Amino acid sequence: VRPVPVVAIDGPSASGKGTVAARVAAALGWHTLDSGAVYRALAWLALEKGVALDDPAALVALAGTARLEFRDGGVAVNGVDVGDAIRTEAVSCAASRIATLPAVRDALLALQRASRRRPGLVADGRDMGSVVFPDACVKVFLTASPEVRAERRYKQLIAKGFNANIDQLRRELAARDAQDRARAVAPLQAAPDARQLDTTAMTIDEAVATVLEWVRTACAVSDAVRVG
Ligand code: CDP
Ligand code: CDP
Repeated sequence: VRPVPVVAIDGPSASGKGTVAARVAAALGWHTLDSGAVYRALAWLALEKGVALDDPAALVALAGTARLEFRDGGVAVNGVDVGDAIRTEAVSCAASRIATLPAVRDALLALQRASRRRPGLVADGRDMGSVVFPDACVKVFLTASPEVRAERRYKQLIAKGFNANIDQLRRELAARDAQDRARAVAPLQAAPDARQLDTTAMTIDEAVATVLEWVRTACAVSDAVRVG
């Protein structure tokens, strides 16, 4: 049986991973996995329950007892929709902290791999191509300059009606990227076989078209699948 094809999109914060992944998946008619939401959901729950963010055993136990659901872009914890609650800066920092713990990463592996369903999966995060789906048919390492990424996140927050300070965002993005890059396990780095895509001067449409072209040439997508 042919394995379910996976497109892995990794990269730093606000490089456009989620947006590009969603658009590529929509064009292909494939499923999506927002793996950042997996770490965010557990971090949110730990903050709610007062579980220490540096206690691997307690966090793994929490992950084992909680019902974490990721469907069609929605995120639910024990049946409660937490789609918006997990996007705060406090949860971003907490997610990045628990993501440094190897035991926590292991505990969340099966959950992420369970998203791999026919006809295909577009997964975005930090280690989709390097650890979770090493056999992905296309691995993209999406980047953009720190300045452009801070601007993108700023505009995104303002559009959603949140308050935001561009200087503070710049500092927070830099701190989280540094923590994600420096960790010993599954650090943020391009897999050796990943294709770099610098979107600093690219529109979303251009980035999506580039990835779809890579999928067309590298993944065995049937003619029945719409590409582009
Ligand atoms: O998932 P990630 O944190 O990497 O980024 P995102 O949430 O998908 O994208 C951050 C913001 O940048 C979104 O509002 C996108 O619409 C925007 N974006 C952009 O303006 N130009 C691009 N080439 C890619 C994303
Ligand atoms: O949207 P943004 O790119 O800012 O963050 P995210 O993708 O939602 O991920 C939040 C945090 O979860 C990251 O800063 C990472 O520390 C962690 N993460 C990870 O370690 N591995 C992944 N595959 C995805 C996220």
